[in-house]
Amino acid sequence: MIRNSILWVCLAFISTITWAQKTTTITVETLSNTVVFQTDAQSHLRTIYFGKRLKNKEELALIETQNNQRDVNAGIYNSIYTPSGSWNMLEPALHIVHADGNTSTDLIYESSTSQKENENVILTTIVLKDPVYQTEAKIFLKAYYQEDVIEQWTEIKNTEKGAITLQKYASANLYLNSQKFYLTNYLGAWGREMRPEEVALTGGIKVLDSKLGTRTNLYEPPTFMLSFNKPSEEDQGDILLGTLGWSGNFKIDFEVDSYHNLRVIAGINPHASAYPLASNMVFKTPSFIYTLSHQGKGLASRNLHRWARKYRILDGTGDRLTLLNNWEATYFDFDQQKLTNLFKDGKKLGVDLFLLDDGWFANKYPRNDDTAGLGDWEENRKKLPDGLGYLIKEAQKTGIKFGIWLEPEMVNPRSELYEKHPDWVLKQPQRPEHYFRNQLVLDLANPKVQDYVFGVVDHLFTKNPALAFIKWDCNAVTFNAHSTYLQTKGESQGKFYVEYVKGLYSVLERIRAKYPKVPMMLCSGGGGRVDYEALKYFTEFWPSDNTEPLERIFIQWNYSHYFPAIATCNHVTDWGKQPLKFRTDVAMMGKLGFDIVVEHLNKDELAFGQKALENYQKLKSIIWYGDQYRLVDPYKNDVASLMYVDENQSKAVMFNYLVSNRFELTATPRPIQMKGLNPNKRYKVEEINLFANTASTLNNSLIFSGDFLMTVGYNPEVNDKRTSVILTIDEVK
Ligand code: DGJ
Repeated sequence: MIRNSILWVCLAFISTITWAQKTTTITVETLSNTVVFQTDAQSHLRTIYFGKRLKNKEELALIETQNNQRDVNAGIYNSIYTPSGSWNMLEPALHIVHADGNTSTDLIYESSTSQKENENVILTTIVLKDPVYQTEAKIFLKAYYQEDVIEQWTEIKNTEKGAITLQKYASANLYLNSQKFYLTNYLGAWGREMRPEEVALTGGIKVLDSKLGTRTNLYEPPTFMLSFNKPSEEDQGDILLGTLGWSGNFKIDFEVDSYHNLRVIAGINPHASAYPLASNMVFKTPSFIYTLSHQGKGLASRNLHRWARKYRILDGTGDRLTLLNNWEATYFDFDQQKLTNLFKDGKKLGVDLFLLDDGWFANKYPRNDDTAGLGDWEENRKKLPDGLGYLIKEAQKTGIKFGIWLEPEMVNPRSELYEKHPDWVLKQPQRPEHYFRNQLVLDLANPKVQDYVFGVVDHLFTKNPALAFIKWDCNAVTFNAHSTYLQTKGESQGKFYVEYVKGLYSVLERIRAKYPKVPMMLCSGGGGRVDYEALKYFTEFWPSDNTEPLERIFIQWNYSHYFPAIATCNHVTDWGKQPLKFRTDVAMMGKLGFDIVVEHLNKDELAFGQKALENYQKLKSIIWYGDQYRLVDPYKNDVASLMYVDENQSKAVMFNYLVSNRFELTATPRPIQMKGLNPNKRYKVEEINLFANTASTLNNSLIFSGDFLMTVGYNPEVNDKRTSVILTIDEVK
């Protein structure tokens, strides 16, 4: 079929060019990469290239002459968005049951536009249509030029007279060419988040997925790294980082076809989620976000961090509060007096905010452990006779802000909320309830429940306008996945998992419309819910309840591939056997907090903590807004080392830790080469955060060029006596 092609004036970085009468070529460009889509003789739009930008644009026309690795006749195809049931024989991105029951879809190129949002961002929209059913799939590619990031999603429009059912509705379908692909994905569990595994992909399909619902990333995040041709390296090689912005069930297929090309199909998990779409309705998929680097994973991470700070995380370039949390200091056992004393401790230590954790609420079924009270968000009168208002005032008097823990999506069966609204919980009508941490999930598909959850937060702020922080927890997975609300409305349960997440986002939208900037921490029994859609509403996330600092180095190391330090909350706790200095140094590589009993600190420890917070005030802008360079990989060495460099390359901070001292007396016998400095600038290197009565073994009177520090390097002299070393690197003019 011959289609009209539209000749687009080359709009900054994107062009749609008619090569010949029959062929339309669409390019999406970022600083280092080009994606090229082209129609074939049947007007199917194919991905013919995704890789390094070519110097001569004219040669894009030659790409297809070089490809001999597809078998269109056998249904092995490089479709931009693979439909099923017609000519495609591979894993589909889109599977529809049409209004008449037919299960086949074909997608033909219809039109495309590009819209410049600003100097850096261009949105390309491509319309594909089924020639028989007219069902429409609109592909959106938002290119962030400087960051080399593409955000891709799809809108599916039902133009048929009756409802269609979306059996599979992926966000994006990438097509990649290489000899070999190495995939890194991350396994997890409580306290064991983000454990990487890297494998060479073999023919067939490897799937990353979650069916857990609410605490969806407990076992696995929707986040991965692909290395082309060889296992991933920090500063070399082609690396793609990908992540799905969706706080619910996800599925990412990696299909290596018989020509060894890779198709990545990322989206909402269709498991138990066949989604009926009424006539004329549009289904918008979540965003799949990816970046391609040709200089290893280090650059890929820096690009993603820059993108996330500037375009995604709430207040990503703004300020953050250091805090003292009482969870591990008291668990559920506290009262007004104890808390006001803790405010004083927090002030003495020097943090900005006190965060009151779980256990402050519920009266009929007091929240004295995790078996009762969840859902009854009234102050517990026994523990807090004068209410939150009093606590906030006391905190203010002490000179510290006050924040609070909430878990508003959940309920204990032993609660007044459950007694009043048994139909608000997820429950299988004919089966016994299953509990996760003694609790049930509320049915956020129900607008009344959405109102209630919004109301919990709104009520708190209306009553206590000075409330300065919220930790939003979510401790249960979705057992009993059945919505009474959908059933009552005569709607399919296939909608449930999707409507839950949409309900959650709608609540968060309302909260942010009214309270745009109050910092909120995204927590889910540790890192059970960490994704870039939720982070539109949250300023930061809690990576793991595991704060044992050696473990934490690895956990933070892995998160650091995808999420910037400003959003990564790290607390100093009493986990493990490492000294306070080690624990504090590790927590400083992100957004610093404490969860310790300050009065248990001896004089030297308290002085150290106070000084560390002072140092952090000076360093935080480098850590939060600077570029991060991973220097020494703790998986391969006895030492972990990484640094942050500010935008002007005039200030940097380097963190070094001993992670294994089994054999080496001197863990850093050689200097460590720094990265990201200006070779022509001169720098002074100084050790900070020293514990009382410890002198640095380093000579801080020396001046080095950036060239020297990056070529020869600098030895922080980490060893079994100096297990944690922080260095500041400051330009000398
Ligand atoms: C799980 C969180 O990860 C912890 O930090 C703490 O807030 C508890 N929930 C409270 O129940």
